[in-house]
Amino acid sequence: MNKIKELIQKEYDRQHNTLGMIPSENYTSKEVREAVGSVFMHKYSEGYPAARYYEGNEVIDELEGFVRDMAVKVMTKHDSKEVQNNWHANVQVLSGSAANLAVYTSILEPGDKILSMYLPDGGHLSHGWSYSSKKDRADSLESEGIAYKGGKKKVNFTSKVFDIVQYKTDPNTFVFDYDQIEKLAVQEQPKLIITGGTAYPRDIDYQRMREIADKVGAYYHADAAHEAGLIAGGAVSSPFEYADFVTFTTHKTLRGPKGAVAMCRKEFSKNLDRAVFPGLQGGPFNHTIAGVGQAFIEADTKDFENYAKQIVKNAQVLADELVNAGLNVITKGTDKHLVLVEVLSDGISGSDLASKLAEIGIIANKNTVPYEKGSPVHPSGFRLGTPILTTRGMKEDAIKEVAEIIIDLFNRLKNNKEDFADLKDRVNNLCLKYKLPN
Ligand SMILES: Cc1ncc(COP(=O)(O)O)c(C=O)c1O
Repeated sequence: MNKIKELIQKEYDRQHNTLGMIPSENYTSKEVREAVGSVFMHKYSEGYPAARYYEGNEVIDELEGFVRDMAVKVMTKHDSKEVQNNWHANVQVLSGSAANLAVYTSILEPGDKILSMYLPDGGHLSHGWSYSSKKDRADSLESEGIAYKGGKKKVNFTSKVFDIVQYKTDPNTFVFDYDQIEKLAVQEQPKLIITGGTAYPRDIDYQRMREIADKVGAYYHADAAHEAGLIAGGAVSSPFEYADFVTFTTHKTLRGPKGAVAMCRKEFSKNLDRAVFPGLQGGPFNHTIAGVGQAFIEADTKDFENYAKQIVKNAQVLADELVNAGLNVITKGTDKHLVLVEVLSDGISGSDLASKLAEIGIIANKNTVPYEKGSPVHPSGFRLGTPILTTRGMKEDAIKEVAEIIIDLFNRLKNNKEDFADLKDRVNNLCLKYKLPN
């Protein structure tokens, strides 16, 4: 076996022998992987269907047209006909971050103001993260109330090009206070408002955010990277009636390959397409587009709706079990596929907990929590998700057993006990029972 084949087998074994609980990950079907590994990867196709810069694109045109239509059909499935007819999809964007940048550059000029969600409260880097080192903090803009105005270290490109103001969650509930966000929007007059994040466990009130955007004449962009599959499956609310732009990744709850889609109301379609190509990218990854198309075919079924709803049910059962055992679950529950837990007040660091979970075969990640006292590198919480466990076929009972194992580990760490061999065996048994999909 050559080195690459050997590593593929090794990674397969790792995935099979551990329980993946990182909310932004999922396992694809064999058909998705075959599409990604297909001959579509051989073709250059700069441009758009029927307007290419290379010959030989008649099949690619058909592929891209089909996947574009499927994106609109599947993602707006739970919206009215009027909404369904009003959206356009660009399936060439290479990743969630690239999709977001395409949205910004399609409607904004450098220096324009964006109001987005604060990173340590669960926002995303690509929404314009910047911060100040401790040494610079005295003269940085930093924060007042729920507003965060960034710092000198422009970590993400978006924060170098645009003027970023970020909103935090309410300091008591860690849920958005929309009246406060509205006040901030009126004060700051942004040109674009963004919602969506990586670790916010509650549903977003898209209608209220639209009203806020309208009040200040801003565009509204819903980044649904995490929720895409849940929206397609009708398990959470849909942003399409209210947003001007919706971007999402295809590899999380949607169960497609690593990739993304950028969608907009039809009035912005020319701007968005131009921003993607030739604005930011060259030739699209046609093999990824094929894999995304396969994921949309799979998501366009009753089985997928049940699956998406089961992901949420599983996360809610997990959150309830952790709350009942006395863990500090942020917002005391979840409306979607992820659960955020603060552990520092119990004397355990987020990184320590995540690495001990990995030792027993549960793969999660350390995470910041709202009003974080540590840093993104040394945060006080950890994040758990149920997409992979649901893909492996787990329902409430199995999730309760996973919760029990996590709680047991947490209690042992709290009491400075370091023997976890029995917990590792229990995880192993679950891995054998709930196998990877084909
Ligand atoms: C809310 C949000 N936006 C954007 C992204 C970026 O996606 P990508 O990693 O494909 O660039 C992520 C990734 O996790 C995300 O959670």
